[in-house]
Amino acid sequence: MSRQGEEDRHPFLEGLSKHRGAVPTVMVIFGASGDLTARKLVPAIFNLAVDNLLPGDFHLIGYGRKAIEDRAFRASMDAAIEEFSRRDLDKEIWGRVRDHMTYHAGGYDDASAFAELAKKIQQIETALGRGVQRLFYISTPPGVFEPIIENLGSSGLAATHAGTNLATKVIIEKPFGRDLGSARALNASINQVFQESQVYRIDHYLGKETVQDLLVQRFANSIFEPLWNREYVNNVQITVAESIGVGSRGGYYDSSGALRDMIQNHTMQLVALTAMEPPVSLDPESIRDEKVKVLKAIQPLSLESKNGDVVRGRYSGGLVDGRPADRYLDAEGIPPDSSTETYAALRLSINNWRWKGVPFYIRSGKRMAKRVSEIAIQFKRPPGILFSEGSRFDLAPNTMVIQIQPDEGVTLVMNSKVPGLETRTQPVKMHFRYATTFGSNTPEAYERLILDAMVGDSTLFIRGDETEASWKLVTPVLECWKEAGVDGLDEYSSGSWGPDSSDQLLAEKGHQWRNSG
Ligand code: BG6
Repeated sequence: MSRQGEEDRHPFLEGLSKHRGAVPTVMVIFGASGDLTARKLVPAIFNLAVDNLLPGDFHLIGYGRKAIEDRAFRASMDAAIEEFSRRDLDKEIWGRVRDHMTYHAGGYDDASAFAELAKKIQQIETALGRGVQRLFYISTPPGVFEPIIENLGSSGLAATHAGTNLATKVIIEKPFGRDLGSARALNASINQVFQESQVYRIDHYLGKETVQDLLVQRFANSIFEPLWNREYVNNVQITVAESIGVGSRGGYYDSSGALRDMIQNHTMQLVALTAMEPPVSLDPESIRDEKVKVLKAIQPLSLESKNGDVVRGRYSGGLVDGRPADRYLDAEGIPPDSSTETYAALRLSINNWRWKGVPFYIRSGKRMAKRVSEIAIQFKRPPGILFSEGSRFDLAPNTMVIQIQPDEGVTLVMNSKVPGLETRTQPVKMHFRYATTFGSNTPEAYERLILDAMVGDSTLFIRGDETEASWKLVTPVLECWKEAGVDGLDEYSSGSWGPDSSDQLLAEKGHQWRNSG
């Protein structure tokens, strides 16, 4: 049998220099016995090993509160790869990482456990006869982010090897704060210990291929960018819809809700990349400067219950994929007096030269009609002089749809003549599909993000001011909803496209959701 890595080496890897300059690295995952480590992080590390993108000297330390033997930890990670990796477990390749993988039990506020961790890393350096880069991945519940950061500082682990390229970096999972105040406080704690250049705030949507492709579609083609403004665009619709409910995550989800869980981070990142000005170069700071600028240009939202800019909903029972689905209030861990939204839609106005007057509608929800994330740019209609809409002329607005997932691709909606002896028109679609053009085994978001953090490329991570700009927009909404309780929380059937009030949000300006087909 040929080697797996060679056999299905993705075109993505062609021309990518091996290891991309990564130096000997010790990666520590805080929250190692958690779900994310098993589902995403360790499978991503395995796939990086398959693609030969890990440094020769790569050591992985799982850190968690539970006492687990090294052997048991390794076995559970083998099982995680078998269950969750996009490629089959290759024991030989994985063995090279596995042999250097250990588990360290300790509390997150326990200074002595951090001192022990420091000793362990020191021993690795002594055995290697050289220093290593340290990569700390914080994948714990947010309540312990700050103690971990403080302990990394006080134990000396956050320090870098002066005069070398052996950086120390910290990757922080979401949620980054609960509102503007807590995000600012978290940024302040981080900045006490780390320089901003050492900090990698995760938003896994930025690791998705299609999200990265947005910049290429916009700035590597000359046919779209001239139209990408208020002269030609009528409205923009960004949908991040899931068909799943909250499942067993009710405890977490009920303290979060759609606005915190999906809108503040993933959806706002899609807004920033869609609406930003061309950066002066592709370096991380130029891109992130433009994202922050456009986020800051979004006007505060009107929270009025009538004709306001925000809508929220909660799923009731219904049918999803033909199967009966229960209501949110019946899910595990949801208190009966919950007022948490499982759906949120916002109408954004971007007050800058490019977008003034073009509404950006964004929505995200659980238990919706189908799983689809897309960005739809709906263009203005041509003057209806020659073909005006009527029985013979079925016309749709030109729309460019960037399909983030699933069925990744780009679709252009245009109007065409129906073949025949009289002139009739019909909307038609031009499709580009990633799977057809490039094959379907593309790297997972976490592979790209871990690799980028390892080699020091922060383009696909959120800068401190960026997260604050986005929290600044949504915090008044959170406060208003908290005060209103269930008042204004509209029910929608599981398996639908959200509450009626979200259709109303668009109808006010003569628009309609593109309920993707
Ligand atoms: C996470 C949210 O950030 O993103 C989840 O906490 C959500 O609630 C998930 O299901 C969606 O991610 P993806 O990659 O499946 O679209």
